[in-house]
Amino acid sequence: MEKSEFALGAKPLPAAGLLTEAPSLSALAEQEAVCTRCPLYKNATQVVPGEGPAQARVLLIGEQPGDQEDVSGRPFVGPSGKLLDIALERAGVDRDRCFVTNAVKHFKFEPRGKRRLHKKPDAGEIDACRWWLDRERALLSPGLVVALGATAIRGVLGRSEAVSRVRGEIIDLGDGAQFLATVHPSSLLRLRDESDKRQAWRGFLADLRKIARWIEKDARAN
Ligand code: URA
Repeated sequence: MEKSEFALGAKPLPAAGLLTEAPSLSALAEQEAVCTRCPLYKNATQVVPGEGPAQARVLLIGEQPGDQEDVSGRPFVGPSGKLLDIALERAGVDRDRCFVTNAVKHFKFEPRGKRRLHKKPDAGEIDACRWWLDRERALLSPGLVVALGATAIRGVLGRSEAVSRVRGEIIDLGDGAQFLATVHPSSLLRLRDESDKRQAWRGFLADLRKIARWIEKDARAN
């Protein structure tokens, strides 16, 4: 059965122009919960809002919730999240001090028997969800915006860029924040060859260590 915005007693979202600006991240999450800006809300269990401290200096952005995130309502709690947690810890970044979110806030999947197979969000879905990402950025004012993978890069920049073209470089976004792109942790989980895995892991850690160094420098400056 197709889910509608009226399921779970949710109110339909006002047209974009009529939405009052959410004054807080929790108010934003309430607005996100009734989002119908793209069709992905119809089949997902729930929206997965970002989480973390409102004063976080670092915003970590993934692609979209996976199966476990869709069920729990929390970002990066499944296999990619577990790998991200290990990598952040090794790199010396405290996840609890970062705000963690996704470029697309509903799970996109294809049913395959009892399983739900992840499907990459398309450009239209990413662009529709930028509405929310932009508001998270406005409420947080992070100093460093980190994109994990190509979907997050598009969510931040509003245009597609290959990860390989921009990864590892800290770039000014022009709004007072800086930007760092790296791979999505799921890309490491997909590798089969042991030496490819080791190389990809080293590269991922090297990128995440740039976040740790950025945090140290930021703390000294503020
Ligand atoms: N992958 C993502 O990009 N985000 C999540 O929350 C989980 C997996």
